[in-house]
This record gives sequence, structure tokens and C-alpha cells, in this order.
Amino acid sequence: MQDVGECYSEEDDGMDAAERLINEHKLSRSECMELLARVDDAALAAKLAAEAVSLRWKYYGNKVYTRGLIEFTNYCKNDCYYCGIRHGNINAVRYRLSRDEILQCCEHGYELGFRTFVLQGGEDPWYTDERMEEIIRSIKTGWPDCALMLSIGEKSYDTYRRFREAGADRYLLRHETANEAHYCYLHPAGQTLRARKQCLYDLKALGYQVGAGFMVGSPGQTVECLADDLVFLQELRPEMVGIGPFIPHHDTRFAHEPAGSVALTLFLLSVIRLLLPKVLLPATTALGTADPRGREKGLMAGANVVMPNLSPVKNRKQYDLYDNKICTGEEAAECRGCLAQRVASVGCELVTERGDFCG
Ligand code: 5AD
Ligand code: FES
Repeated sequence: MQDVGECYSEEDDGMDAAERLINEHKLSRSECMELLARVDDAALAAKLAAEAVSLRWKYYGNKVYTRGLIEFTNYCKNDCYYCGIRHGNINAVRYRLSRDEILQCCEHGYELGFRTFVLQGGEDPWYTDERMEEIIRSIKTGWPDCALMLSIGEKSYDTYRRFREAGADRYLLRHETANEAHYCYLHPAGQTLRARKQCLYDLKALGYQVGAGFMVGSPGQTVECLADDLVFLQELRPEMVGIGPFIPHHDTRFAHEPAGSVALTLFLLSVIRLLLPKVLLPATTALGTADPRGREKGLMAGANVVMPNLSPVKNRKQYDLYDNKICTGEEAAECRGCLAQRVASVGCELVTERGDFCG
């Protein structure tokens, strides 16, 4: 791949990678590598976090937005090798929520102060375009002041267009890794990085607020892979970026791989805030699973979104992407209250707003 650094002559202007990131909000691939080599430099991490938080403050103040996550199906036709609900995992206990169950989650979520709902699920063909359109329309009719985000994987342009016309506002589709060889290592042959990227560009073209993202410390990930991720994010310029540490799942080929590093995740959150200053950046459940104060630390590194679970408690443990996932026993109200306190403990405020991209 051609190094975008060759397009501008940062090598000889005396500015190092951290300074360029802070001053100009961009990094070439080689600068990404230079910066990532310094992840153990605590002073640098603290400096980047301080700059990231001050940028977040500039655009969003002390507000932290919530998205109520409704995990409505754990059936999936894909076989991502790292994921506990992949098609090939015969031990996964499968469930689907009916339209009415989904609407009950929204009803309850609205009372609790959620103004964005996220419908997340595996790639489940039972939910045809027609069924999805009906669910989307019901949610948008029932709660017209709320934003609706979908996270249901790769679809055709036409299907994305239908969902958009039915009222969906946003779409989350992590790219998982922007490195071709790494993508092949994590997925079976039928799933390609090219198709993934095409979906993200289609979603952008259709006017969705788009979320990309990747796991930190996934098996086979190198500094080069992360540099590719950061270059890709600068190219795509998504409105949201979801990152969290990889956490092994016992029923996958990566069961005995180490979990991703919390420190590296925090470092990357700051870098991403600096590259895309207005980005909506969640402190993810995986970060909260890897470290009991992971989400608070994420906010202190520049994140400004949390995504508590609104799914029915009876199904929560079944949406089992990785081991020891937090919040699988709590009622939605408990999570909301718990998070409000956690957010307040780092000087931020959990707000009752849609939390649109401010750009
Ligand atoms: N560890 C951490 N995150 C995971 N995901 C899937 N499996 C794992 C895992 N083992 C993430 C993927 C996916 C999102 C819904 O969950 O990045 O996009
Ligand atoms: Fe779910 Fe704390 S956020 S219990």
C-alpha cells in the first residue's frame, strides 16, 4: 500500500507524530506506526488523553450520550472466528425477539431516558427486508423523537436504502480490521474486507450516520494492522467509531488467545478523538468487561458515549459474543442508574438526548 505520508512532507518539517496529531488532526501510516511504538510512554498517553478530553469538551461539553442496545437476535449466518454467536458454534442457545418484545424494550427504554435505540443482531435471514421495515416503522412511529441505529451486518445497497427510507438514521458496522491479511485470518473465505468497506461507503452515500470500528488486540493483530485501521478511519471519516479490546470466547478457535490490552485501547481512543475531533466514541461494554473501571477510563481518554443493554434479561446471557460479558444479569433500569453514577464519577453527565453527530 502506498504510504499516505508520501503525499505530504512531514518527514522534514521537524514535527513528530504526536505534535502533528494534536496540531493538525491527521497522521500518515508511518506516523501511526511511530506513535503506536510509544504506547508504553505514560507521559505521552496522558498528554494525548488531556488533548482528547479538551477536544471533546469543545464540541460536546461534559455530555455523555446513551444508546439503548436491543440485542434482538443471536442467530447469525456468518462465521467470524472470534465471535461466540458465529454460525458454527453449535453450543450457542439461539433466540429471536418478536416485534412486540422489541417495542416493549423501546417503551421501557424511553421511560428510562434513552433517545437512541440500537437494534443489534447477528446476520439473521429470518428478519427479511419486509419484517425489518415493519419493525423500523413501528419504532419511528412510536417514538418519533428518538434516533434509530441499526447494527445488523452486511446488506445490499438496495436493502440499506429501504431501511433508510423506513426511518433508520444510523448504522453501525465495525470494519473489524482494515488489513487485508488480518481480515482473512479472522474470517472465512466468503467474508471479505472489500465487501465490508463497500457496505460502509454505501451507508455513507445513503446519508446514514455511520459507525465503523475494530477490536484491539484481536489474534494476529500487529502495529501495521492498527496503522491501517487509523488510515482507513481518516479516509472513511465515520460519525462514530466503536473500539473495544478483544476478549476470548471459550467456544472459538481463539479461546486461549490473550485478551486485548486496556491501556492500548485507551491510547487508541485518544488518538481517534484527535483524528476525528467530533466523532461519537463509545466507552464499550468490552472495555468495561476487561477492566472494572474500563468505561470510566474510556471517558477520561476521550470517549463520549455509553451503550447499556436494553435487551430482556432472560436473553442477555445468550448474546454471548465473548466470555464474562458484564451487565447480563441487571435490569435496564439498574444499568442506567449504575452508568449515570459512573459517568458522574469522572465529571461528565449522562444526558437524555439523541446525541447526533455535531458536524
Ligand atoms: N471480543 C471482543 N469483541 C468482539 N466482538 C465480537 N466478538 C468479540 C470478541 N470475542 C465485537 C465485534 C463486533 C461487535 C458486535 O462485537 O467487533 O463487530
Ligand atoms: Fe450495567 Fe453497571 S452498567 S450494571
